[in-house]
Amino acid sequence: MQTLPLNQAFTLIEPGPVTLVTTSDGRNDNVMTITWTMVMDFSPIFAITTGRWNHSWTALRDTRECVIAIPPVDMIDTVIGIGTCSGVDTDKFRKFGLTRARGGYVRPPLIRECLANIECRVIDIVERHSIVVLEGLAAWIDPKREERRTLHAVGDGTFIVDGERFDRKEAMRSKLPDGV
Ligand SMILES: Cc1cc2nc3c(=O)[nH]c(=O)nc-3n(C[C@H](O)[C@H](O)[C@H](O)COP(=O)(O)O)c2cc1C
Repeated sequence: MQTLPLNQAFTLIEPGPVTLVTTSDGRNDNVMTITWTMVMDFSPIFAITTGRWNHSWTALRDTRECVIAIPPVDMIDTVIGIGTCSGVDTDKFRKFGLTRARGGYVRPPLIRECLANIECRVIDIVERHSIVVLEGLAAWIDPKREERRTLHAVGDGTFIVDGERFDRKEAMRSKLPDGV
């Protein structure tokens, strides 16, 4: 994996891919599937929606750290598996054969099989709406990963895969931050 300039990290989340969010409570690492995400600022600031009904919640709230990993389409069954069992009774890294990589800023591991990973710290929790606001600290990408298409959840148990990409950079230049 190699670093991606932090000012480009929002482009990993803006298309709305299915994500895996890793946490660590200091003894055990855990991972959950999250599809409710949002970019809130280029800096980058993100929001995810989750809450105390998940085991990951306690580590997220107490350590205020996580990693957002972006799996490609060939991980679809892993994504579903991770999102349908709990770290309460399952070592998901072992069960799903995930390879940990160490980041530079936070304790939760990066997932080597993923296309990209963003190290984040929690900067706010809006409990009333179960929104966790994250600041990206560092971003990593795997340029050698052959499968580059990401997954998009419809919400009814079906998924859409990335399709054609259109380039309108020049027309949008006035709205794009420097460096993207
Ligand atoms: C496709 C998919 C998308 C999901 N998206 C979210 C989400 O956006 N927010 C959330 O809280 N849970 C979401 N979940 C559910 C959690 O991933 C699930 O409850 C998981 O088992 C929590 O793991 P944990 O108990 O180890 O934290 C999703 C699950 C799947 C399969």
